[in-house]
Amino acid sequence: MKIEYTKSKKATTIIFSEGKVNRHEGSTLTIGAGKLDEIDTRGFIRLVRKVVRVARAQEIKHVALDVKDLQLKGIDYSEEELGRILVENMILANYEFVTYKKKEKGQYEGVETVSILGASAAFKKGAKTGEVVGGEVNWCRDLANIPGGDMTPTVLAKAAKEAAKGTDIKVTILERKDVEKLKMGLILGVDKGSAEPLKFIVMEYWGAGKTSKQKPIALVGKGITFDTGGLSLKPSEAMVGMHHDMTGGATVISAITAAAKLKLKKNVVAIIPAVENAISGEAYRPGDVLKSMDGKTVEVLNTDAEGRLILADSVTYAKKYKPSIIIDVATLTGAALVALGTHASAILTRQETLEKKLRDLGEVSGDYVWPLPLWDEYTSYTKGQIADLANIPREQARFGGTINGGMFIAQFVEKNQPWVHIDIAPRMEATSQDNLTKGATGEPVRLLVRLIETN
Ligand code: BES
Ligand code: ZN
Ligand code: ZN
Repeated sequence: MKIEYTKSKKATTIIFSEGKVNRHEGSTLTIGAGKLDEIDTRGFIRLVRKVVRVARAQEIKHVALDVKDLQLKGIDYSEEELGRILVENMILANYEFVTYKKKEKGQYEGVETVSILGASAAFKKGAKTGEVVGGEVNWCRDLANIPGGDMTPTVLAKAAKEAAKGTDIKVTILERKDVEKLKMGLILGVDKGSAEPLKFIVMEYWGAGKTSKQKPIALVGKGITFDTGGLSLKPSEAMVGMHHDMTGGATVISAITAAAKLKLKKNVVAIIPAVENAISGEAYRPGDVLKSMDGKTVEVLNTDAEGRLILADSVTYAKKYKPSIIIDVATLTGAALVALGTHASAILTRQETLEKKLRDLGEVSGDYVWPLPLWDEYTSYTKGQIADLANIPREQARFGGTINGGMFIAQFVEKNQPWVHIDIAPRMEATSQDNLTKGATGEPVRLLVRLIETN
C-alpha cells in the first residue's frame, strides 16, 4: 500500500457519515461512522481499519482521504501521531494471508494507494513511522500464520536473518551444541521429542552505540513453532492454531527490526528460543526433572507447560546483557483468555511504574494490555516436590493459570530487575471486532516499538 500526498483524480474519496451504513456511489465511498463526536482513540483505530475493509469489499484500489476529516472532537492526537495511527492501521487492515492461495490473473489485491490531502510535515513524519511499524506487524503476521509443518525453528532463524538484512542488526544463531554448552537444560528438555533441530536466535541492535552507557532493552519471545502439548498431549481442537505458538518470537524480531529501520538511538537485544514441542520415543516425560541454565532443577508435571521452560532459560541468558528491562512475550496460557477474553494481553510485573507505562503505551499503540498480580502468595505454587521447582502447581493447577506461568518465570529474575511478562494468548488471533482479517494479529509489536522509543 502506497501513501501519496497528491490529489489523485483516480482515487475514490472517503467521507464519513453519522449513520451506520456504508455507501459506494460514483467515486465516493461513504463510511458509516456512527456519532463522530463520540469517537475515542479506540473507535478511531476501528474506523480507520473499517475504511480499508469496506474499500476491500468493494474492490477499490485507490482511495483519497482529507486530513481535516480525521481531526475528530474526541481525539487530541498531534499531527504526527495522527499520521502514524492512520497509516499503521490502514496497512494492518489491508493485510491478507495469501501465501497459500492460488493467484488468479487480474485478481484484486487490496488497496494500492492512499492519497492524503492536507497533510502537514509533522503528519508525513508520523506516516513514515506508521509505514515502517505497520509493515513490521504484517511481516510478523505472515510468519505467525505459516502452518507448523512449514514454520520450523530453522525457518524462523532464517526469517530473523532475512529481517536483519540491510539493517545494523547483528544476528547470531546458536545451535543445539551451543545450547548444550550453555547448559540450558529446560530448552533441551522441551526439544527432546522433536525431529526438527532447535535454534536459539539472538539479535542485537546497538542504536545508541555498544560502548555507550545505555543498557539495552532485552526482548524475549516464545518461539514454539508447533505445540502438540508433548506427551501431555493436547486434545485435537485445542491443537488447531498451535502453529501460532511462535508469535511471541516473531513479534520481538519485528520490534527490533522496526527499531533498526527507524534508526532509533536505542540499544535492543531480541532473544528467541525456537523449538518444536513434539512427541516421539525421546520426548521429555511428565515427572522428568530438568536442570536450568541458572542451576535450579524443575519437575515437569505437564509437558504442555513448555513455554515457561524455554523462557526461563532465555531470560537467564538475557541477564548477561545487564538489560535495563527484560520483556518476555509469549502465547503462554489458555487461562489468559479465560481471565481477559480476547481484547487484551495480560501483563505481569513487579514494577508498578512499568505496569502503568505499558498500560498507557498500550492505549496509544492499540495493543491493549491489562495487569495480573505477581504477589509473593503465589510463590508456593512454583515449588517442586523432588526438584526445586515444578512447571505447574501440583494442586489447584486450574486456578490462576496465567499468574502461575508468570510466577514460574519470575523465579529466574531477581526482584529488583525490571521485568515484565506479557501473555499474548488472548490476542494471538484476531476477533471480528478488530476489523482485521482472520488469523494472527501481530500484537504487541506496536507496543514494543513504543516502549523502545520511550525507554
Ligand atoms: N501455547 C499454549 C497456550 C495457549 C493456549 C495459547 C491457547 C493460545 C491459546 C501453552 O503452551 C499451553 O499449552 N499452556 C497450558 C498450560 C497448562 C498445562 C498449565 C494451557 O494453557 O493449557
Ligand atoms: Zn503448551
Ligand atoms: Zn505453547
